[in-house]
Amino acid sequence: MMRVLESIEEWLRFRNSSCFFCKTLGFIPTMGALHDGHISLVERSISENDFTLVSIFVNPTQFDDKRDLEKYPRTIESDLGMLGDAGAHFVLTPRYEDIYADGYKYRVTESELSKVLCGAHRPGHFDGVLTVVMKLLNIASADRAYFGEKDYQQLLLIKGMTESFFMKTTIVPCATSRETDGLARSSRNRLLSKNDRQKASLFHDILASKRLIGDVAEQLRGFGFDVDYIEERFGRRFGAVKLGKVRLIDNVPI
Ligand code: PAJ
Repeated sequence: MMRVLESIEEWLRFRNSSCFFCKTLGFIPTMGALHDGHISLVERSISENDFTLVSIFVNPTQFDDKRDLEKYPRTIESDLGMLGDAGAHFVLTPRYEDIYADGYKYRVTESELSKVLCGAHRPGHFDGVLTVVMKLLNIASADRAYFGEKDYQQLLLIKGMTESFFMKTTIVPCATSRETDGLARSSRNRLLSKNDRQKASLFHDILASKRLIGDVAEQLRGFGFDVDYIEERFGRRFGAVKLGKVRLIDNVPI
């Protein structure tokens, strides 16, 4: 039976109880609006650990645009149904006041990688991500935590943070899960109009093509995408675009 906990204290009572003695715990932090991409991380954790904890927390400090935060899809009933079907053991849905009892006075900042790619377009975004992930990793106290390569920059920053601060949880990278037309699964995809959803598959096709990056950006613009960046780093090609007001990101190995 899956247990849903709203209170951090209640979770910590479980975590420190004898039921976890000599058992491994896998953890997947999420912002909800779950889809099969999230579930692929949950299934991986279930296959590698005795227990799996999923957190659902729409983290306000990582939204540089307040309208984006308001629009972010919230689908808690269907999220809990999917997690129950997948076989997750615990779900933590903490309150803002408990996570940010300090009013976000204390925060984690990275000074290089967090300033490029998405960081250059979303001021403060990665401070919010790193801060909430450090809090959640400390609360979960898991052996392993699972993060998607879809958010590759986020994954690298979180891995760097856990190493720099000698945190005990191992960060496990998980492959990007895609729709059949190649579009990376994302909670934001459901905000696309029908027309834009059809067009969105071109983003991955063109990004993954052998064209030079300048041509990639130009071709995407030709199809009506508003291009934030197309850049190559770490042996990968990264892209961020907007279709209407919906921002999509993706990356592929070169
Ligand atoms: P969210 O977008 O809900 O994603 C939660 C986790 O699922 C992240 O590790 C993300 O990379 C992974 N994920 C999302 N779509 C995926 C896909 N198509 N394939 C594989 N993995 C995918 O990322 C966040 O939330 C937040 O920034 C968070 C880390 C929870 C901090 O608030």
